[in-house]
Amino acid sequence: MNNNEALGRIMLDEETIAKRVEELGRQISADYDRDFNGEPVVIVCILKGACIFASDLLKKLTVDARIDFMAVSSYGASTKSTGVVKINKDLDTSIEGKNILIVEDIIDTGLTLHYLIKSLWGRNPKSIKVCTLLDKPERRKVEMTADYIGFEIENKFIVGYGLDFDEKYRNLPYITCLD
Ligand code: IMP
Ligand code: MG
Repeated sequence: MNNNEALGRIMLDEETIAKRVEELGRQISADYDRDFNGEPVVIVCILKGACIFASDLLKKLTVDARIDFMAVSSYGASTKSTGVVKINKDLDTSIEGKNILIVEDIIDTGLTLHYLIKSLWGRNPKSIKVCTLLDKPERRKVEMTADYIGFEIENKFIVGYGLDFDEKYRNLPYITCLD
């Protein structure tokens, strides 16, 4: 029995992703170097979707970079946002006075980040910026623009390179969509 969904064409292959991650790493390092003269940047990796992207990006940063993890959920086993954001795992460290770079897999409706940014500002960091691998601007329900965007993509349900459908396909090294 085959209970897999049909996957579409490869939208972004491994090489394309790697090249863009390297560019982002260079750009982010240059910006933080210029704006925060040597202060550490704390990558806040939003689990689970951003785990692969954040790890690859971290390796490309040449500034003093740290990493911490947060798990939030706004989706069940469905491809539609419920608009409900729940913190399933919080950061281990205080971000007070720190420069925070939230690393997300994808911005869709924008609801998750909208909530997260508001909640993280409440902890008095020095700065918050957002880096997302993918951006689906067509689907926004609230205004949300990332400081760094890997790729803008069409309105499809994306899987691979950390992104899942019902916990499946995170392990694909490329980015594709459900057909
Ligand atoms: P938002 O709150 O609608 O912006 O949704 C953000 C979160 O929903 C992302 O961090 C993903 O975990 C998930 N998500 C949104 N669109 C997709 C998709 O196309 N594929 C996989 N996960 C998605
Ligand atoms: Mg996510």
